[in-house]
Amino acid sequence: MCMAVIAVTRERRAEETRVAAVPETVKKLIAAGFEVTVEAGAGAAASYPDSEYQAAGATIAKTAKEALAKADILFKVRAPADEEIAALKAGAIVAALLNPYQDKAIVDALAKKGASAFAMEFVPRITRAQVMDALSSQANLAGYRAVIEAAEAYGKALPMMMTAAGTIAAAKVFIMGVGVAGLQAIATARRLGAVVTATDVRPATKEQVESLGAKFLAVEDEEFRNAQTAGGYAKEMSPEYQAKQAELVSSHIAKQDIVITTALIPGRPPPKLVSAAQVASMKPGSVIVDLAVEQGGNVEGVKLGEVAETANGVKILGRPNLPGRIAADASALYARNLLAFAGLLLDKEGKLGPDYEDEILKAALVTQAGKVVHPQLAS
Ligand code: NAI
Repeated sequence: MCMAVIAVTRERRAEETRVAAVPETVKKLIAAGFEVTVEAGAGAAASYPDSEYQAAGATIAKTAKEALAKADILFKVRAPADEEIAALKAGAIVAALLNPYQDKAIVDALAKKGASAFAMEFVPRITRAQVMDALSSQANLAGYRAVIEAAEAYGKALPMMMTAAGTIAAAKVFIMGVGVAGLQAIATARRLGAVVTATDVRPATKEQVESLGAKFLAVEDEEFRNAQTAGGYAKEMSPEYQAKQAELVSSHIAKQDIVITTALIPGRPPPKLVSAAQVASMKPGSVIVDLAVEQGGNVEGVKLGEVAETANGVKILGRPNLPGRIAADASALYARNLLAFAGLLLDKEGKLGPDYEDEILKAALVTQAGKVVHPQLAS
């Protein structure tokens, strides 16, 4: 039987340390009936050496071109680079975090090449697909890492400490946006002993925040009670609501030591949640981490890839790709998301044969047979 070949190539974007398969998932992909080719060095930045992939049964290819020559499927973290798209076999399948709303040019290039490309961001959040939910697996680690980054940049301790030389007060941490990342940020900050408050526009988050031992703060009006879409995401709030929200959080932010923002609205720019005036109201030495920086940011004055220090001594961290700063675990979880996804690409006999009518594949497919096919991207 001719086995379907999966290629895993090295990430080509600057500072992308993750990899789309780890030795453990390679072993399982092979057991499921795939052949796996890994480009040399693909896992190096995430601490997975070629020798471990080889021991798991993968073939090591010297270059991406060589890895892709026979590949039916390409697994990546980020969208493939031009050289990789050029090297794809006709009709090859690609699965990656394609960032399709922002990187339309790559979606077009994949369509032009005739690839069947899946955006892992579009895997629906239904029970059967939970194990493939890459947004959640990565956001969870980003939320954890945001607290670690904040703690590192903050010149004081997070927990209360009683010492012979006196008492250190616990840090006050405020989390804005309580999705998957925000919840993990709350849990991590609590574990480190901080006093944590949080806000979100979705009413369902109130109980989640409280169950993690943090205090909830929001304008709970009629618009708030209806702010959740059927899919569980936030709606874009009216300017009136945003003004009320800003007023409520203003006096709160002024008293915080660390603010972590994670607010996103699918397909829309992120809401502006912290103004320059609010940043200026914070004490010197305070730290803000903006997890939405890659999409445009929640905080006025955040700079992508930089630590912006304001005149009043507040640091605004605009680090992109926080999951990439915990690369070994982020890769392992993402690789398991793809391992589960790979199961959908085989037919009952174990041969390559995706059922494009499957609810999950249908939702995630963005290009096929030369066209951009996703309804939210086709213009
Ligand atoms: P996200 O990354 O799209 O957004 C992060 C958070 O920002 C959300 O909680 C959102 O409500 C909040 N936000 C948006 N505008 C805001 C504003 N103006 N002020 C304050 N907060 C604002 O969200 P994520 O993490 O993708 O989660 C979205 C939903 O999906 C949640 O309900 C989550 O529980 C649910 N979910 C469901 C899963 C499943 O059923 N398999 C798996 C993962 C998440």
